[in-house]
Amino acid sequence: MKSINKILFAAFFIIITLINHSFVFAETETAVDLDKVMKTMLAVTLIIIAVVIWLFVVYSEKNDNEGILFKTPFKVFKQYITKMSPIEKESEMLLHHKYDGIEELDNRIPPWFNFLFYGTIIWGIIYMLVFHVFDDGQVQSKEYEAEMNQAAVERQILVKTGAFLNEETVTALSDAAVLLEGKEIFIKNCASCHGQNGEGTVGSNLTDDFWIHGGGIKNIFTVVKYGVPAKGMISWQTQLAPRKMQAVSSYILTLHGANPPNAKAPEGEKWEEPKTNK
Ligand code: HEC
Repeated sequence: MKSINKILFAAFFIIITLINHSFVFAETETAVDLDKVMKTMLAVTLIIIAVVIWLFVVYSEKNDNEGILFKTPFKVFKQYITKMSPIEKESEMLLHHKYDGIEELDNRIPPWFNFLFYGTIIWGIIYMLVFHVFDDGQVQSKEYEAEMNQAAVERQILVKTGAFLNEETVTALSDAAVLLEGKEIFIKNCASCHGQNGEGTVGSNLTDDFWIHGGGIKNIFTVVKYGVPAKGMISWQTQLAPRKMQAVSSYILTLHGANPPNAKAPEGEKWEEPKTNK
């Protein structure tokens, strides 16, 4: 029976080592590896099977009312990791000095302590090799770099979609394609109130020097985005993406000084582009 226990123990340790192995080396990868999950689940299943077999062996032993068989593995394990000397041998290990009646035993260093001690050394060597010699792992600074790069990529995507485009960051574009798109948006959505050429009908004249809410790309973008609901100017942010509001605002800037026929009388104040407000 003892040999069965030993075999089961050996199996148990091998399985635990396998699990540890898969976790330790999974550390450097961020994505969940299905293969590793499978291996772990398999290992756990094997452990459960081993425990069940062991319990079966223990309980099928009829003459063991004390449960000695059940306790043996724990005892063997304890003995194995502590290598404690039996109490009868204590007198042989006694060191020959006494302090205030306290005596000292010359116990050997327990194996569990040595495991830890040498284990940390081996771990340290592996760690150093992986992280500093072969550069397989990511040290903190590299991890930081990788995250920053990733963030930059994501930011670039957001910039492209116009997520960062708002009244604070908007700039006037002069790209012909953008201005053409702006013109199309204007004719489709704005001309009914601001006239085909921005001369103004219900809405104000967008070609002169005078602006009710201030000129320049940022003010125009703001009015387009939020509207002036009380005065009949719609908020467009739910209908036009930031890029499109930028395009139509840029287009409006090009209308300046166009002097279209039937121009509506100037409203608001004369707008001077501040030198820094670009
Ligand atoms: C339903 C009519 C209507 C539509 C459609 C409309 N606007 Fe207006 N818009 C107005 C009115 C009215 C005002 C004046 C608001 C005020 O008096 O404060 C205005 C003001 C503005 C101003 C500010 C002008 C200034 O003097 O400060 C801008 C810029 C503007 N509109 C752009 C647009 C753009 C771009 C569109 C299309 C995407 C658009 N508007 C569509 C009625 C409209």
